[in-house]
Amino acid sequence: MPLKAELHCHIEGAAAPELVIRQAEKYGKDPSAFIQNGSFVWTDFTSFLAAYDFAADLFRSEEDYARLAEHYLTSLARDGAIYSEVFTSPDHAIKAGLSPKAYTDALGEGMARAKAKTGIEGRMIVTGVRHVGVESIEAVARFAARCGHPLVTGFGVAGDERMGDFEDYVRAFEIAREAGLGITIHAGELLGWESVKGALDHIRPSRIGHGVRAIENPDLVKRIADEGVVLEICPGSNVALKVFDSFAAHPFRRLRDAGCKVTLNSDDPPYFWTSLKREYDIAAEHFGMDEKALSAVTRTAIEAAFVDKKTKAALLARLEAHKR
Ligand code: ADE
Ligand code: ZN
Repeated sequence: MPLKAELHCHIEGAAAPELVIRQAEKYGKDPSAFIQNGSFVWTDFTSFLAAYDFAADLFRSEEDYARLAEHYLTSLARDGAIYSEVFTSPDHAIKAGLSPKAYTDALGEGMARAKAKTGIEGRMIVTGVRHVGVESIEAVARFAARCGHPLVTGFGVAGDERMGDFEDYVRAFEIAREAGLGITIHAGELLGWESVKGALDHIRPSRIGHGVRAIENPDLVKRIADEGVVLEICPGSNVALKVFDSFAAHPFRRLRDAGCKVTLNSDDPPYFWTSLKREYDIAAEHFGMDEKALSAVTRTAIEAAFVDKKTKAALLARLEAHKR
């Protein structure tokens, strides 16, 4: 089994249906509109976000969040992951009645517990949400820049790509960049190649969340390869959300063969009936990636990780030792 690393998973989106049902019972809510027969129900991106927001609202206390992070990272480690970056969302925490600081500290506590049990290294990418609005994205960037939590190492923007313009987020990303945070932004998932170009032109991220629709423009694919921008690719999510009809139609392999740096990620695993392990299995089965090629994907992820040099070197050494 290849060692794995994940750069793109929304922590609220990692809560399994059984856990969400337990949280619903705890807070006296009826989950039946969003979970049926042990599975999340949604039909398109908008209804996916509705289910996601419903579930996120059921994590309200520090212990709820600590347990969520502990469970997710522990399960990743069991599947062979040595490194995990999760997207955190202070907007969801505020909505659920928790301060961004209490929320971040709680997630950090959960990550520390998972590390103590399994050795998995975790970091947080604080994210603003496009459909919440520009002002809140800037407020989230200011929080990320000043929070000082040792595991907060990145800033990103997620949410409904069909809302807002990249120009609107330049200030938020400047605040984050100035604070030394790594930069990633969702683009080229729901919208086409122009969205990826807009993200590169305006935000200058080292990584792009998804970015797969770049495949529609060969010049842009070449630019991504030439500039060494890393793509956080989530094949299971893309096929579930019908960004592509099938794994056979998914551009992972074409992007990789064109020289783009590609990584494998689960996005919101139970919503898309996936896991990081399944993403690696999909790549083996549908993209012709053998063990050596999958190990190279893990190396790309660690090299692109928003983590200090010493930890990165230790992770790369672990990867090398595993190969021998
Ligand atoms: N938030 C959670 N999952 C997301 C996705 N796949 N795209 C954009 N925003 C998200
Ligand atoms: Zn995402």
